[in-house]
Amino acid sequence: MKTINLVKNQLMIDTKKIRKFFPAIKAGRIVSNNAASTQVPVQLLELLKKLVVQYDNVHRGQSRSSLLTTEAFESSYDTIAQFIGATSRKNIVLYRNATEAINSVMYSLMTEFKNGDNVVTTFMEHNSNYVPWYGLCKEILPKFGVNTECRIAKFDKETGVLDLNHLKSLVDQRTKLVCCTGASNFLGTINPIKKIKAIADSSGYIQPNGETRSYLLIDGAQVVPNTFVNVNELGVDFFVWSFHKMLAPFGVGALYAKEGLLEKMRPFLYGGDMIAEGMVSQEKVSYNSLPWKFTAGTPNILGTILSAQAIRLLIDFAINPRKRKYFLANKQLEASDIKKAMENIKSHEQTLIREALGLLGEMPSLNIFGPKNPVNRTSLVAFTCKDKSPFKIAEELSKLGVESRAGCHCATLAHHYYGLNPPASCRLSFCVYNNIEDVKKVCRAVKKCI
Ligand code: ALA
Repeated sequence: MKTINLVKNQLMIDTKKIRKFFPAIKAGRIVSNNAASTQVPVQLLELLKKLVVQYDNVHRGQSRSSLLTTEAFESSYDTIAQFIGATSRKNIVLYRNATEAINSVMYSLMTEFKNGDNVVTTFMEHNSNYVPWYGLCKEILPKFGVNTECRIAKFDKETGVLDLNHLKSLVDQRTKLVCCTGASNFLGTINPIKKIKAIADSSGYIQPNGETRSYLLIDGAQVVPNTFVNVNELGVDFFVWSFHKMLAPFGVGALYAKEGLLEKMRPFLYGGDMIAEGMVSQEKVSYNSLPWKFTAGTPNILGTILSAQAIRLLIDFAINPRKRKYFLANKQLEASDIKKAMENIKSHEQTLIREALGLLGEMPSLNIFGPKNPVNRTSLVAFTCKDKSPFKIAEELSKLGVESRAGCHCATLAHHYYGLNPPASCRLSFCVYNNIEDVKKVCRAVKKCI
């Protein structure tokens, strides 16, 4: 019996080897609010110290320091592009977070919308992939006399699965854009991107470049940290995510977009460095080449370098925590290694969530949201309790040393969809450095609180 259990709970990541690199874990914290943000490992903190020796601005100086920093900054875009299977750095635009990345798409496309167009999104979106479209359709475009609609696709309350038939019924030849999360940060549901893409592709909408289809924007914030993603294979037009959910410090989010779209799109921010050198006059301003056309003003240089190195370290941790094949190495990421690393992480996190769902499922007063099968979800679980408010549970969990998040997790539409009042649940979320013991401790604490 014991052997079966051990095999069942076998983790694909050697957490013993990596937990020591996380000061927060060494300090005794049970870090279980990782869907909000993950912890930063010492390697990145040490790198930050090293980088300040050559600290200087990028694209704005001829000193050795500036050139070295520029080189590290620019090559970070290559790492990021390789990691998600993009063709080149020209596909990558960096912002402060995924929210800003989605807003940038909204502002860049804004002038393309025509009277009668619509955007289709879903009830399971993070507010960052609903509110910008609400703002566009209800507040911004009407001011210019352009009337558009923001349509919202349902999901099944019982299973947490997106209703593709409903989504399909909302998409028509006036749907400029379909915006959907790759995985819900409340339900844990993993959405079928290829099927959603097929729906967007068959809309019949005529884009300004002559293509007949709706664009597809995927919010990958809860996908990229735990899944092998190849944007070319998925064929998505826009894909966003944040690095603070994958070991990097706060402050950097990414937009992947097809090069042809970025070439044509209006810049989101106007200013320095996004212009072609010397090409500014009273009559005409010409823009810089990609991706710098979208990098107005001094960027988050250190954050960018640390984010790219976080990717490299994450791959090393997931393949062989004893070895550093990619971290600080000047080498291209091999697709086979990325795949192996991300599959290990996926499997690891599924083992954790299977354990959590099993233990929490034994508590009858809990109502657990999202798919029952761990294979169909990410490693987060949100629940409400018959007898206690989510906020009270989170507060008591904190007293027991367990970190959770109570509230609507910015998935406000989905909480209202369930008629939750207040629109809140308590959420636990695990990642690469969590082990089965963490899950057990967290669930024991929940049991105590309820
Ligand atoms: N989107 C983050 C979360 O789900 C902040 O908590």
